Amino acid sequence: MKRLLVTGASGFLGSRIVKFYSGKYDVLAPGHSEMDITDEENVYKVFKNFKPHFVIHSAAVSDVGMCDREPERSWKINVDGSRNIAAASAEFHAKCLLCSSDQVYFGSNVKGLHREDEIVSPANTYGREKKKAEEECLDKNPECVLLRLSWMYDTRTMSEWEHSDFFRTLLSRLQAQEDLCYPVYDVRGITDVNEVLFNFEKTLELKGGVYNFGSPNDKNTYETVRAMFMGLKWDAARLKRNEEAFASNPRNISMSPAKLNQCGITFLPTLEALIRNGSRIDTDMK
Ligand SMILES: NC(=O)c1ccc[n+]([C@@H]2O[C@H](COP(=O)([O-])OP(=O)(O)OC[C@H]3O[C@@H](n4cnc5c(N)ncnc54)[C@H](OP(=O)(O)O)[C@@H]3O)[C@@H](O)[C@H]2O)c1
Repeated sequence: MKRLLVTGASGFLGSRIVKFYSGKYDVLAPGHSEMDITDEENVYKVFKNFKPHFVIHSAAVSDVGMCDREPERSWKINVDGSRNIAAASAEFHAKCLLCSSDQVYFGSNVKGLHREDEIVSPANTYGREKKKAEEECLDKNPECVLLRLSWMYDTRTMSEWEHSDFFRTLLSRLQAQEDLCYPVYDVRGITDVNEVLFNFEKTLELKGGVYNFGSPNDKNTYETVRAMFMGLKWDAARLKRNEEAFASNPRNISMSPAKLNQCGITFLPTLEALIRNGSRIDTDMK
């Protein structure tokens, strides 16, 4: 059985990677205290002992606000830590997948879907860290595959406690009979994490480089949720437009799927996946 090393295994994505691939791979998923990715020696020791064939690096400071509040700490983890993982993967001949983000496109003047070869100049700390991490990882290890993920959700584990995702927040607001308010100045893909997990394995065959990796979506978030409600025949009366969020700096970080599609990897469009997943949810949840 091939060996797979997973970082960030207590996180939203990492915990799912471990569940999804255990059994198919011999998975090692050290916690933060067992392998601190900012500690180069510690990282090399784990690689030397386990000798992974594959690495999926999902450890990060993924909270955008936290990166603004604690930029030194987040830089160390998001940039230096990622570089350590990419370098160790090169040294020990492991194919390495690293999680980047669609936020690298925030602040771009390009109209329409963003492509991987676009010159980016991210508007927030998190986006700048992800961009720098991509550059440094490719510099250390040109074979590594950097996946620009979008906002993810999971409909299968709604009852477990975790940090909120798009679907969990939507349903808890519906249950609480609260108004649902979504921004009109924010356009981005929203992706079912189960598609991400399924597609990860296919990226192990890809050439090193950067890839957009999520559901395409050209609607703003308000329009997306409204179209989802219409598609599911849910009551859209409580849906409200949020005209304030991103009004001063409208965000459009919608990604082109073209490069990934050319490699034979596809994601359902955001709306299609939301309707499919929404229809599976017990109406009692509403
Ligand atoms: N979730 C999304 O919608 C989304 C969207 C786009 C991109 N991404 C990217 O996808 C990846 C996974 O995101 P996520 O939502 O799963 O993040 P998450 O839930 O915040 O999990 C982050 C993980 O990183 C670990 N970690 C932090 N610092 C570490 C260190 N120094 N050494 C070792 N482990 C450390 C954390 O462990 P402790 O808690 O023990 O510190 C935790 O397991 C990240 O790269 C993120 O930027 C996520």
